[in-house]
Amino acid sequence: MTGFTTSYGVKLPWIIYGTAWKKEQTKDLVIEALKAGFKGIDTACQPKHYNEGMVGDAITSFKEHGLKREDIYIQTKFTPLAGQDTTSIPYDKNALIFDQVLQSFEKSKENLKTNYTDTLIMHSPVFPHSLFMEAWSAMEKIYRRGGARQLGISNCYETKTLERLYKDATVKPAVLQNRFYQESGYDVELRNFCSKSKILYQSFWTLTANGHILNSYLIKDIAKKYDKTKPQIFFRYLNQSGILPLTGTCSVQHMKEDLQVLEFELSKEELTAIDSILF
Ligand SMILES: NC(=O)c1ccc[n+]([C@@H]2O[C@H](COP(=O)([O-])OP(=O)(O)OC[C@H]3O[C@@H](n4cnc5c(N)ncnc54)[C@H](OP(=O)(O)O)[C@@H]3O)[C@@H](O)[C@H]2O)c1
Repeated sequence: MTGFTTSYGVKLPWIIYGTAWKKEQTKDLVIEALKAGFKGIDTACQPKHYNEGMVGDAITSFKEHGLKREDIYIQTKFTPLAGQDTTSIPYDKNALIFDQVLQSFEKSKENLKTNYTDTLIMHSPVFPHSLFMEAWSAMEKIYRRGGARQLGISNCYETKTLERLYKDATVKPAVLQNRFYQESGYDVELRNFCSKSKILYQSFWTLTANGHILNSYLIKDIAKKYDKTKPQIFFRYLNQSGILPLTGTCSVQHMKEDLQVLEFELSKEELTAIDSILF
């Protein structure tokens, strides 16, 4: 699997297929993504946005065609109460947050039909910090029992929040999954902290939030030069910059195009030029 290896020795592909908002199409689209060649899947125990059970169904049906569990990288998330729909909370809303994390993870294993996930991600920081660490310690318990090979955090846009988590955690976060967009200054400070602390940065909203970049003359010219699409150029730029993008495309054509990105390499000058229109 070509891609990234974290400090926990976990290998991740260079791009991950995201399964949000696909509802009853989830199973078919995940099967299409696996057929196209995706080796990594992102989901969450959050029925409001993800059908985690159908992700599990898709992986199971693909196993019948020879896919082994270890051939595929799976990450799921614990979503705190604030991110759940009150009608579909996948754990006891009155339980302590420590127990909610454990219950949510049991549900994820049942949905995904696996006894471990490669990464377990907290969907967003929890405040106050003491509650955050209580939830994180439940994730550490899951890690120690072998339920997750590493842990991650998402939607964490303040460097001091990530630094504090990193300092207080016994099992340090290995992944940060954030929206990659102009309003957060593309997380420059956070990403510097990630590089120093060996945390892999994953991006979402990568295409949706960056139409102005994709439609710039620079990206258009580079796309023409390599005979690639504008999203392919942007994904390649991110990858060569140490960022792992997620894609949730519903188009089989786009799935194929997204996976062809490793066929070419941008020059140092091109990377610097794209940097200069982003920052
Ligand atoms: N942690 C979080 O809170 C969080 C939040 C949001 C998302 N996520 C994760 O990230 C995944 C991706 O979500 P996203 O927000 O980045 O958006 P997305 O679902 O990937 O949507 C991106 C848009 O780009 C288009 N697209 C994708 N590949 C393309 C290509 N090669 N050429 C042209 N257009 C292309 C898609 O259209 P087509 O379908 O037509 O290709 C779609 O309209 C989600 O499924 C989820 O797993 C996580």
